[in-house]
Amino acid sequence: MRSIVTLSEFIMERQADFPYASGDLSRLLADIGVAAKIINHQVNKAGLQDILGAEGTSNVQGEEQMKLDVISDKALFNAVRWGGQVCGAASEENERYHAFDNEISRKSKYVILFDPLDGSSNIDVNVSIGTIFSIFRRKSSVGDLANVNDFLQKGSEQVAAGYVIYGSSTMLVYTTGHGVNGFTLEPSIGEFCLSHEDMKIPEEGTIYSINEGNIRTCSEAVQEYVAWCQASDKKTKRPYTARYIGSLVADVHRNLIKGGIYMYPGTTKNPEGKLRMQYECNPLAFIVEQAGGKASDGAQRIMDIQPRELHMRSPLFIGSKHMVERIESLLAKEQIKVQ
Ligand code: AHG
Ligand code: MN
Ligand code: MN
Repeated sequence: MRSIVTLSEFIMERQADFPYASGDLSRLLADIGVAAKIINHQVNKAGLQDILGAEGTSNVQGEEQMKLDVISDKALFNAVRWGGQVCGAASEENERYHAFDNEISRKSKYVILFDPLDGSSNIDVNVSIGTIFSIFRRKSSVGDLANVNDFLQKGSEQVAAGYVIYGSSTMLVYTTGHGVNGFTLEPSIGEFCLSHEDMKIPEEGTIYSINEGNIRTCSEAVQEYVAWCQASDKKTKRPYTARYIGSLVADVHRNLIKGGIYMYPGTTKNPEGKLRMQYECNPLAFIVEQAGGKASDGAQRIMDIQPRELHMRSPLFIGSKHMVERIESLLAKEQIKVQ
């Protein structure tokens, strides 16, 4: 029988994958694993928070009771701030990025961006939620304070990205550009253990995920694509199955394993869609591409888009290669009609 491989063991084994390996990135990934366990612990007792927090405002230590996304944000910041592996961090929860002004952090090579808790609207109803992270080598000089250009890099510059899904089991999935591997948290030993080695997304799938409540505010091409997914055709196994959890991480994770497409297009109200390029689109695009899939804003590869600002939003079509290509071609035809 194959022995268990923990996340830390796997990271150490794979350190040789990086030509410039000094162990920093490995240590950073391990730190994220620790933060993920802390967040997982909080997520698991989310429903009890009001009961356990004395008077509903403070806990036993006298700390103020915080919302889960603030707790997650703090857990991640704490994990990366003191590790000395990153010179700065940016989070969906904070307007500005943080440059860590201490001697060790100034000397570090990486920056990290994260969505500490994805799918917040699902917290109160016990539905899967997640954490997403994206790591870049800094652009600024080692020794300086991190600056905004470190955080405004194209997705194709990512050196690592990953997500944690707090679902029926908790999993951490990551890539460093050498395939995608998934680890399941084994609660009895408190370790992430390799469970999904070299994950690959099927090139064709039968699941489509979109908030169909918005469909009439989407472009004609998106409407046409969804109608195509719903039409009957034995050969292409249609009608497809509609699945929309409302947690991007969980929807993408399912489609990664089973094959499918997730769409958050622009709408008349929000032409740029809802999802954030740096904290959501880029990291998931890196993972899905590494698994053999595609991620597009409808016209361009997500990871080729130059971010203009920290909290930039982008339409997202992500998942099985052929499914993303089909919607891209419908959107391209629509563009030609408009011109
Ligand atoms: P977050 O909780 O980090 O703000 O992200 C929520 C995102 C994403 O997880 C999900 O797929 C999408 O919002 C759902 O949006 P709609 O409710 O508009 O469908
Ligand atoms: Mn999110
Ligand atoms: Mn979030």
